[in-house]
Amino acid sequence: MDNIETILTRKSVRDFASKEVEKEKIDLLLKGAMASPSAMNRQPWKFVVVTNKDKIEEIKKAMPFGKHNAPLIIVPCIDEIAASLLNKGLAACDLAASSENILLMAHSLSLGAVWCAIYPNKMQIKKMRKVLGLSLTLSPFSCIYIGYPSDSDKSKVKDKFKEKNIIRI
Ligand SMILES: Cc1cc2nc3c(=O)[nH]c(=O)nc-3n(C[C@H](O)[C@H](O)[C@H](O)COP(=O)(O)O)c2cc1C
Repeated sequence: MDNIETILTRKSVRDFASKEVEKEKIDLLLKGAMASPSAMNRQPWKFVVVTNKDKIEEIKKAMPFGKHNAPLIIVPCIDEIAASLLNKGLAACDLAASSENILLMAHSLSLGAVWCAIYPNKMQIKKMRKVLGLSLTLSPFSCIYIGYPSDSDKSKVKDKFKEKNIIRI
């Protein structure tokens, strides 16, 4: 799959096969995550990788709109210490870029993924920090469910291009 096709055909996948994601693919997802741009190149992130089934169930319970049956969850977190010299909003931009890289890398590896929101909901950040056993220096940003798409995942790629959303000068 070339880069243009990867970007144009990515879609959220919410239903997964039980097949585990191979370690080599997990490593590539994390390399992709850390290849993203960041303000002043501070890379203010840490990535929690969850494959433990009990922990995945705990996360699903804690995520109001994230009940998806994935065998792998990656939680990109703001590293508050690395981010401390930045405007808080910039660290969030960095984590958003990194989260998108994970989605694109997943798609190019024939995996499916969906980004579920944590940031900027303070209660949800606190709740997920507790579930993941993280210190106050790490703020969970997004919760990305990843796995092989199930055969029953029938969702289609949507063409979201809208000329009306462009201002040409
Ligand atoms: C910031 C953000 C938060 C999202 N939160 C959720 C969520 O909590 N649960 C979910 O199932 N999908 C979530 N999504 C996925 C969106 O619903 C999805 O990207 C959107 O419907 C467009 O569909 P597509 O990704 O297939 O193009 C989120 C996406 C973003 C970018």
